[in-house]
Amino acid sequence: MFPMYRARRIRRDGIREILNNSLVEPKKLMLPIFVIPGSGKTEEIVSMPGVYRYTVDKVLDFVEEVVQFGIKSIIFFGVSEIKDSIGSWAFNSEGEVQKAIRLVKKEFPDMVVAADTCLCEYTDHGHCGIVKDGEILNDETLKVLNDVAISYAESGADIIAPSGMMDGMVLSIRNALDNKGFYNTIIMSYSAKYSSCFYGPFRDAADSAPKFGNRKTHQMSPFFGYNEAIKEALIDVEECADILMVKPGLAYLDVLKAVKDVVLLPVAVYNVSGEYSMVKAASINGWLDEMSTVSEIFYAFLRAGADIIISYHSLDYAKWLTKNG
Ligand code: PBG
Ligand code: ZN
Repeated sequence: MFPMYRARRIRRDGIREILNNSLVEPKKLMLPIFVIPGSGKTEEIVSMPGVYRYTVDKVLDFVEEVVQFGIKSIIFFGVSEIKDSIGSWAFNSEGEVQKAIRLVKKEFPDMVVAADTCLCEYTDHGHCGIVKDGEILNDETLKVLNDVAISYAESGADIIAPSGMMDGMVLSIRNALDNKGFYNTIIMSYSAKYSSCFYGPFRDAADSAPKFGNRKTHQMSPFFGYNEAIKEALIDVEECADILMVKPGLAYLDVLKAVKDVVLLPVAVYNVSGEYSMVKAASINGWLDEMSTVSEIFYAFLRAGADIIISYHSLDYAKWLTKNG
C-alpha cells in the first residue's frame, strides 16, 4: 500500500491544534524604547511606521501600556543632541536615558530595565568609540563605556547591554560595576553582532550613523561563516556575561542555534529595525498579514533557541495575543 506513512494524519483539525506548541508569550519579549531630548513630544520614526521616539515625560504613559499587556522587559536607547568626540553625554546623570530609567524603576519596580550601552548616539562622528587618525581605539573606548555602564547602574538599570563589539568590553564593565558594588547588575552582551544592512532604519531613529567610514572594524562580517560568532560567544562567557545576544535575527537563525548549543547561558535575539520595517512595509501594502507573520518569526526565534526576543513588534504582538489568544 502506498503511501504507508501519511504525514497529513496528524495535520488534521483538532489533533493539529493539540500538537502545536504555544505561541511565544509576551514575557519572552523585550521592547526597545527610544528616548529623545526635550519634553511633550512623541515622534513617529519615518522608516519604522508605528514606532515612536519619546521625550522622558512621555515614557511613563507608554510603559504603563506595555505593562498592561504582559511585557516584562524594555531596553532604552538614547538619542542625543549633545555630541562630542568621546560621547560624554552618555555618562551624564542628567542624560535622557538615566532619567527615563529612574522614572520607570520608581513607578514600575518590577519592570526589567535594560540600557543599550554604546557611544555612537553621543559622539559627533557617530562612531561607537574614541576615534584617532580614523581608527576606533579599543582600550580607550572601554574606559568611557565603564563610566556609561556605572551611570546607568546608578540610575537603577537592571541590565547593561554593551552593543559596541569592543574587545574586552564585558570583563571591563563587570570589573567597573563590581568595584562600585553593583554585583547584581546583569550584563547582556551583544556577543555576535554583524555589520548588517538591516540596521538602516535604526540609524535614522537614533541619529547614530557614522559620519565617515563604517562599523566593519568591530562588527562581524556577515560573510565569514559562524565560527567567529561562537568564538565571540565563548569569550563573553569567560568574561562573565550573564546573557548573550545574537543580532540580527532572521538572517542569522543558524548562528543563534549554534551559539545556544555551545553556551550554558540564556541567549537573546535582536529582531532588528530592518526586519521590523520589511514586515511593516509589506503589511501596509496588504502583501502580508502582519501579526501572522510576526508570530511565525517569533516562533522561529524560539525554535532556534532564543530565551529573550528583542523586537519593535513586541507590544503590537502582545496586544494581538490578548485579543486572539
Ligand atoms: C548601536 C546599536 C545599533 C543597534 C543597536 N545598538 C546600530 C548599529 O550598530 O549601527 C541596531 C538596532 C536595530 O537595527 O534595531 N551600537
Ligand atoms: Zn554603537
